[in-house]
Amino acid sequence: MAGEDAGAARYPGLAGEGAPYLGLAGEGALYLALGALFSGLSLRKILKNEVKFQDASLCVLPALLLLEALCYAFLPPGLGLSVFSVACGFYYIALPVRRMLPAAGKSVLVTGCDSGLGHALAKHLDKQGLLVFAGVLNRNGPGAEELRRACSPNLCLIQLDVTNSEEITAAHCEISGRVKDAGLWALVHNAGVLVYVADGELLPVNVYKQCMEVNFLGVVQVTKMFMPLLRKAKGRLVTISSMAGLNPIPGFAAYAASKAAVTMFCAVMRQDLFKWGVKVSSIHPSGFKTNIFGSREHCSIQAQDLLENLKPDVRDDYGEDYLNTLKDLHHEMLTTSSSNISPVLEDAYHALLAQRPYSTYNPGTFAYLIPLIFRCFPLWFYDTIAKQMFPIHRAILPRSLRTFHNNYKTD
Ligand SMILES: NC(=O)c1ccc[n+]([C@@H]2O[C@H](COP(=O)([O-])OP(=O)(O)OC[C@H]3O[C@@H](n4cnc5c(N)ncnc54)[C@H](OP(=O)(O)O)[C@@H]3O)[C@@H](O)[C@H]2O)c1
Repeated sequence: MAGEDAGAARYPGLAGEGAPYLGLAGEGALYLALGALFSGLSLRKILKNEVKFQDASLCVLPALLLLEALCYAFLPPGLGLSVFSVACGFYYIALPVRRMLPAAGKSVLVTGCDSGLGHALAKHLDKQGLLVFAGVLNRNGPGAEELRRACSPNLCLIQLDVTNSEEITAAHCEISGRVKDAGLWALVHNAGVLVYVADGELLPVNVYKQCMEVNFLGVVQVTKMFMPLLRKAKGRLVTISSMAGLNPIPGFAAYAASKAAVTMFCAVMRQDLFKWGVKVSSIHPSGFKTNIFGSREHCSIQAQDLLENLKPDVRDDYGEDYLNTLKDLHHEMLTTSSSNISPVLEDAYHALLAQRPYSTYNPGTFAYLIPLIFRCFPLWFYDTIAKQMFPIHRAILPRSLRTFHNNYKTD
């Protein structure tokens, strides 16, 4: 048979009498069957356990397909099939399994629950049966009122400005008195501010300070205070960072720098706390519709502050019309953000209660893709994409650049 001749030519050493010989068609069919069986089993496990496509183990799949082709092309049938089967077996065992710990009896402190993601997370965790300590900036504000109204009596409101040492100490006293020897299962750093989006040169220094104080130093202070309680429970430290902490986004110099700082803080804490059995995760959402972009009134106040603090030559170079368009960016970002915040809630829940939580989560549209492009592709390629995606690049040119372009054109 032609197939047998070809097979004998491929593996001359095995063509002799008594050697196991399958024939090319039989060998191909075995590879196909093995591949199909393995793919089916893996797919079932992936769907059942909701393994995310961003999980590193899924990137191994194409490598396995390549291995299958190489085994088929270059190894004798018995050896090739054995190598491929062993590789598939290892991969299947290593695929993560979504096993959740029981929520009952576990306590969690979430900061920044007055509005947005923290507010929704506090409600979600309360519904799942956790004992929630909801940190709020204003215990008598509308966000706190709504939590009182909508949640179970188990939810406990805690006055907590993460930049205020006295409030942090008082919150710690109250929580340690309640959880006693069980410790605190989890701390979710959610409180955060964006303040204002503008070119890094234009942002007032106090915007940088505000971002650092809330988004970074607030996290550090609160972590240090609650660490003994977390270690006691061998619990979880979860931080809502941002996609902006992983890749540069034009206009986000202050916010992104503070989120990059907090991202690295969490990454190091993960290593430091390993020995204590405390698991650390950071969540890097893309855009979700919340109060983070501020109201029109907030943007006008920030724009006014920015204008008043600019040196005359800088104001001249950028021009008032350019500065005015910046105000609209917040509104544009809000309208293009997703109003479905459930991906963030699901990831936070996984980080809190999965037996094997991930160290990073990337909920939201493009939240995994954009940092991946930044890491894996040349910078010019990332910059081209960023120009299309982020609105500050679509604002008009600063005044003196427009003048330069016009002069250049007429010359
Ligand atoms: N929404 C997004 O697209 C997005 C994307 C990536 C990352 N994030 C991050 O997600 C987290 C939650 O933001 P969000 O989108 O839900 O915005 P948000 O609605 O503005 O919520 C932020 C919360 O933090 C509170 N807060 C501000 N300063 C605080 C302080 N010093 N101490 C304690 N609480 C403070 C705010 O209180 P007030 O309401 O009283 O100001 C508010 O409740 C933030 O860390 C943010 O950086 C959001």
